[in-house]
Amino acid sequence: MVTIKVAINGFGTIGKRVADAIDAQEDMEIVGVTKTGPSFGCGLAAKKGFPLYCTFDDVEKISSFDDSDYDCKGGLSELLSVADVVIDCAPGKMGATNLQKYKSAGIKYMFQGGEKHSLTGLSYTSCANHKENFNAQGTRVVSCNTTGLSRTLVPLFDHCGSLKVECTMIRRAADPGDSDKGPINAIKPVLKVPSHHGPDVMTVKPEIEINSLAVAVPTTLMHVHSIIADLPEGHGLNTEKIIEMWMDTPRVIVMNGKEDRIPTTAEVMEMARDIGRKWGDLHEIFVWEDGVKLIGNRLYYFQAIHQESDVIPENVDCVRALMGTEKDWKTSVSKTDSAISKYYNL
Ligand SMILES: NC(=O)c1ccc[n+]([C@@H]2O[C@H](COP(=O)([O-])OP(=O)(O)OC[C@H]3O[C@@H](n4cnc5c(N)ncnc54)[C@H](OP(=O)(O)O)[C@@H]3O)[C@@H](O)[C@H]2O)c1
Repeated sequence: MVTIKVAINGFGTIGKRVADAIDAQEDMEIVGVTKTGPSFGCGLAAKKGFPLYCTFDDVEKISSFDDSDYDCKGGLSELLSVADVVIDCAPGKMGATNLQKYKSAGIKYMFQGGEKHSLTGLSYTSCANHKENFNAQGTRVVSCNTTGLSRTLVPLFDHCGSLKVECTMIRRAADPGDSDKGPINAIKPVLKVPSHHGPDVMTVKPEIEINSLAVAVPTTLMHVHSIIADLPEGHGLNTEKIIEMWMDTPRVIVMNGKEDRIPTTAEVMEMARDIGRKWGDLHEIFVWEDGVKLIGNRLYYFQAIHQESDVIPENVDCVRALMGTEKDWKTSVSKTDSAISKYYNL
């Protein structure tokens, strides 16, 4: 079996999780991760045995590691020279500069949802457009919100043939590890209407007509989506059939808020901690069974998104798409998820 050599540029919230998920796969290996300078996160790379590189090539920045406890192998260019594909996990909006570096190195590249679709002209989520990304040179894994919307809307669209969606993203104000974001005591509407979240689904599934509003609320745990979808005449579905469809969909969990005593994102996250993945992650989209209702052709539902982790397994599948090693998205998803389960002994 060919082992795909993967570099991770940016070892923060997303980068460290993607590195773990890649490390779990038999067909991939981490050839290095980058940090801008010595900090506590470098210890995690050392513990995992991931070679550590500096995010930049400047001698001064590389030498900032000299007086630290961390062994820095060199600058980004050296890392790129030993990789087949780089997963850019830098903070959003740094993509344009990094893209030039990847193009110069001549390797395949993946960005995250903090970058715009226009950077790569191609976006990715496994259930929507794995095939369109097959053998591509570079792409963008869509954001946590777009991934969440795609997981439940794409199977509905595939059944119905058309779909019109209005949704509101109730967004966490910050990740648990962030101290510089807010609000901490307010509800902050996104005053750019519609928000970018819903329309971003159309970068991976253009046939779904979708718009969204967004508000940020003082919580760090998860996002919640409140979704209204209009199905076409003759869809042949009812509430129970839609719930069954999602129960059979990869990376979607359906539970009953009342009967399972899981009424809020706090309990969902507690359940995620019980599952045993590192950092208490929940890769799956969580749908409240008792919050789903089809009235006529109009479907109402809520779902919760663990913003730090739903995109993680998507990055693994995206590597297989770009490298042209697995054509079928469901086969890739099943390989990815079973390797992650084994890795964490679940
Ligand atoms: N956090 C989420 O909930 C979430 C969910 C889905 C998608 N995303 C997207 O994922 C991307 C990464 O977000 P994040 O939350 O992981 O950010 P983060 O926690 O701030 O981590 C960013 C990492 O990038 C490093 N970095 C800084 N400048 C860089 C550069 N020029 N090139 C390469 N790396 C650089 C940082 O290095 P140091 O550690 O040395 O400072 C840090 O390790 C963004 O596009 C974001 O929109 C985030």
